[in-house]
Amino acid sequence: MAEQFKDKRRITTKTLQEMKASNHKISMLTAYDYTMAKIIDAGGADVILVGDSASNVMSGHETTLPITLEQMIYHASSVVRGAQRAMIVVDLPFGSYQGNTKEALSSSIKIMKESGAHAVKLEGGDDVVDSIKRILLAGIPVMGHLGLIPQSIYKFGSYSVRAQEETEANKLIEDAKKLEIAGVFAIVLEKVPAELAKKIADSLSIPVIGIGAGNRCDGQVLVSHDMFGMTHEFSPRFLRRYLNLYEEMKNAVNQYCLDVQMGDFPNSKEQY
Ligand code: KIV
Repeated sequence: MAEQFKDKRRITTKTLQEMKASNHKISMLTAYDYTMAKIIDAGGADVILVGDSASNVMSGHETTLPITLEQMIYHASSVVRGAQRAMIVVDLPFGSYQGNTKEALSSSIKIMKESGAHAVKLEGGDDVVDSIKRILLAGIPVMGHLGLIPQSIYKFGSYSVRAQEETEANKLIEDAKKLEIAGVFAIVLEKVPAELAKKIADSLSIPVIGIGAGNRCDGQVLVSHDMFGMTHEFSPRFLRRYLNLYEEMKNAVNQYCLDVQMGDFPNSKEQY
């Protein structure tokens, strides 16, 4: 956390804009529940994303598609109760905004009203610009998401690096510009070449937050369960694990089971 951002005031879209302007990197992590949000907020993350990756890490689905609007609101409201400082952004889940702009607006209003979060995020380029404008008209800040967009996984067929070809790279640059003009306050750029991400970040005045997009974006985001090493089977190149909680938690469970079996837990000090 940069010195001037150590105060406890809530991070807003304005703070993020100032951070970009003064070259202070933005740190963003996902959270889906109260306890995790409390830890991540206390650790100093500027933004907490209630990502639809909850579909994977919380519910065990293969993709982000199954999670519902109601489930996202449940996760988001728990996160809101846990975080004092971080700005809380909630993913609009698959099927809650693609139909038309009215649907996008009503899903966003439902999230804001029922969870108490501060902004929504949606995936896509020029195809979602009208929806972004409509949501913004209601006073709801919107974060964009370009590059690898997991809600369209069946269209692309793989989670490989995006925009490696010139045509796709140019389309990505254009989409990022269109999202900025539409009024998004930041863009997540997922799994694209680092040089391209730098080019996009340099060309926009809003923050670009990367995941698998190199270190010259204006900030970084990771799925907290990956970053804590709870999801040991998922190892993309961009992931840095700060802990190995899968092993540590598994060993703790194992020790607990042994203690119970041996009659060693609870001991005389752990009873009434
Ligand atoms: O759902 C999510 O966790 C995300 C991040 C990977 C950016 O969208």
